[in-house]
Amino acid sequence: MSLQGKRIVVGLGGGIAAFKAVELVRELMRRGAEVRVVMTDAARRFVGPITFAGLTGKPPVTDLWAEDYAGEVHVELGEWADAVVIAPATMNLMARAANGHADDVVLATLACAKGQVFFAPAMHSRMWSHPAMQRNAEALTRSGAVLLGPVIGPLASGEIGLGRMMEPVEIADGVETHLAHAKDLEGVRLLISAGPTHEDLDPVRFIGNRSSGRMGYAIAAQALRRGAEVTIVSGPVHIPPPSGAEVVQVWSARQMHEAIMSRFDAFDVVVMAAAVADYRPHRRAGQKIKKGENLQIELVRNPDILADLGAKRAQRPAVLVGFALETENLEQAAREKLVKKAADLIVANEAGAGLGGDTNRAVLVEAGSSTPLPQMSKRALADQILDRIRVLLHQAAHRQGREAERDAPN
Ligand SMILES: Cc1cc2nc3c(=O)[nH]c(=O)nc-3n(C[C@H](O)[C@H](O)[C@H](O)COP(=O)(O)O)c2cc1C
Repeated sequence: MSLQGKRIVVGLGGGIAAFKAVELVRELMRRGAEVRVVMTDAARRFVGPITFAGLTGKPPVTDLWAEDYAGEVHVELGEWADAVVIAPATMNLMARAANGHADDVVLATLACAKGQVFFAPAMHSRMWSHPAMQRNAEALTRSGAVLLGPVIGPLASGEIGLGRMMEPVEIADGVETHLAHAKDLEGVRLLISAGPTHEDLDPVRFIGNRSSGRMGYAIAAQALRRGAEVTIVSGPVHIPPPSGAEVVQVWSARQMHEAIMSRFDAFDVVVMAAAVADYRPHRRAGQKIKKGENLQIELVRNPDILADLGAKRAQRPAVLVGFALETENLEQAAREKLVKKAADLIVANEAGAGLGGDTNRAVLVEAGSSTPLPQMSKRALADQILDRIRVLLHQAAHRQGREAERDAPN
């Protein structure tokens, strides 16, 4: 584990866990990072700036207006830092950050941060579960920040609940893991499908499914964070896309097929995370179907996008990833799909483990291996999938190199 040479700003909000920021600063420095500290007014009520001055050798910045800084200290720190870690991140500080406030040195530094931003939330569980807090946490994540925690444990009130700040060592681990990933997908062009498709019965009714689009959007968000160029072909969903992605909105399986087949050859990786309907009504009624006796609907097969991509052979993307959602014989079904669709990786989900929720449990099935993963956040699973995609891209590049050598004229 190393943060050698990394420059990290630790920003403190005003919470009881501020004393743990002392340990965090020490831990980051122990791993080789150069650390500067910024504090809100409220944070100074919990822990003295002198402690950090002693630790880092530099007085923490506590005042945007301090006359001893000739330039704009928040701009300099924002430019300087590879990462800004807010710990403890209070409810108030996160609300201000989510809304783009910049009226103290921590907020102004966050607003200027060029590097990765992390929040380690620390608060009472009722504060954490408050709808405003959840909205703000989501907004911060969407704008590219990484949330480390909170975790379940004893709170300052003596109760046990979700809201406790992660331990300093775990925060340092999280920062380190993310920085190690930083930009490792630079230059990779990724096309991803997400969400359900809706198959029209008449002008007001459709056949759909429970996919929320969260898994595909999480992969898109993490890929963007890791430097990839991302296009999402999205079915109808109720969540906003990650900023920085190109988004192509579609409604039905046939529209999704058209959107992907007309674009895929400009991409290195295609991930089919959408829950594409296998069937559609044979006929779409021109007018709303009237209530009457029992109704029979004839369904016909939709095109199979993954199979059509796999069958492209020479022009197919370097890495092709599919998803399999099964209620039984998960792994076997995924392995059959891998072969039949000529995919490189199948992410196999148990039905019920992930559909519509924030977490997911999956098995990653490849030609030579199966990797069962524990239940985890969709964001964490997205990173695991992207780690495998990175390896598969390397393998594909090697293969191509060997083929080019073999085909080259002597
Ligand atoms: C003793 C005490 C402990 C507090 N602990 C927390 C806390 O753990 N988390 C939190 O979100 N707010 C906590 N608060 C409330 C914040 O200090 C308050 O919202 C403050 O305005 C936050 O300022 P900031 O935006 O600079 O972090 C606490 C307040 C007091 C008086």
